[in-house]
Amino acid sequence: MKYYERMKDKFEKLRTKKDIIILSIESSCDETSVAVVKNGRIVLSNIIATQIEIHRRFGGVVPEVASRNHITAISNIYKEALSQANMNESEIDAVAVTYGAGLMGALLVGVNFAKGLAYALDIPLIAVSHVYGHIAANYISHELLVPPFICLMVSGGHTALLKVDDYNKMKLLGTTVDDAVGEAFDKVARVLGLQYPGGPEIDKLAKQGNPIYKFTVSNALKHTLNFSFSGIKTEVVNLVHNMTQRGEEINKADIACSFQECVTDELSLKAIKACKNIGIKKLVVAGGVGANSRLKEKLTKLCTENNIEFYSPVLRFCTDNAAMIGSQAYYMLKDGLGLAELSLTAKPNIEL
Ligand code: KG4
Ligand code: ZN
Repeated sequence: MKYYERMKDKFEKLRTKKDIIILSIESSCDETSVAVVKNGRIVLSNIIATQIEIHRRFGGVVPEVASRNHITAISNIYKEALSQANMNESEIDAVAVTYGAGLMGALLVGVNFAKGLAYALDIPLIAVSHVYGHIAANYISHELLVPPFICLMVSGGHTALLKVDDYNKMKLLGTTVDDAVGEAFDKVARVLGLQYPGGPEIDKLAKQGNPIYKFTVSNALKHTLNFSFSGIKTEVVNLVHNMTQRGEEINKADIACSFQECVTDELSLKAIKACKNIGIKKLVVAGGVGANSRLKEKLTKLCTENNIEFYSPVLRFCTDNAAMIGSQAYYMLKDGLGLAELSLTAKPNIEL
């Protein structure tokens, strides 16, 4: 019998097994990560090799460099993840991998490693969407959190509001019509001469500034749950260029603070609006920008005022990691979803 035919049986039996151990792999951008997760919630290990220092000198991620570094790192990260979880290969029930969205070459390293491993160990392979993984970062952060809830997804690649009915069932309420919010943070940071990745740098610098500049986000989208961040990005770029041309001194902290105030207002107010419109009193934030201290501050305050429960991932699960992929894979397996064939390939873009 062929691998996939054998796996259909194994996958079906696994769904009802008491304890399920998933080894998960994430390599969509500049973090090589392997984790071992038990029953979707217990993280036995989560090893992350970050390439941030390597890409910093280029001011952003260089895809080809990212792929090469994933290749160099992945075998050792895999061994370390098993060893830290105190497991041997025979104890793994399934392999999960991020197959998209992300950088094609980077994703392929994880996908091919996962395929080889699943075949060699003769266990099922589960293909996980990186975006759903970010939502699952909350399940490993909050033991008792269960759907339904409203999710504010804020990463480097996506910005959206989702109604999460169940672990694998969600509806898009609103999305960005142009840039993702993480992209805007990174671009503004770059024009201010801050290092990559820009989001955490703006977060830090904004604390020393005042919101003296009145930036705007698209008025046309005011009555919707959609977002637009390319306009504010251009406003900041133009301001900095004009000030430079006039030889004026640029107070980077004030610009960072003004930008951050504007975008976090937009994100938090629309997230609360979504909860109210839908009538769900539980809000969950997901993705790298979810690490932003001002965004969390505003969401915490607004949720308290509106009697909404608020959840955000613990910091180490906010940005890219494999544990969140292992968590989502568990809930996919439980619902009989995601079993992949060995022909699985990477998908740079995935619709929400
Ligand atoms: O979710 P993520 O790790 O990768 C994607 O799936 O895209 O998000 C990365 C994004 C980057 O744009 C980074 O600048 C931003 O998250 N980020 C932050 C903060 N930490 C990371 N943005 C604002 N404030 C932060 N503290
Ligand atoms: Zn991510």
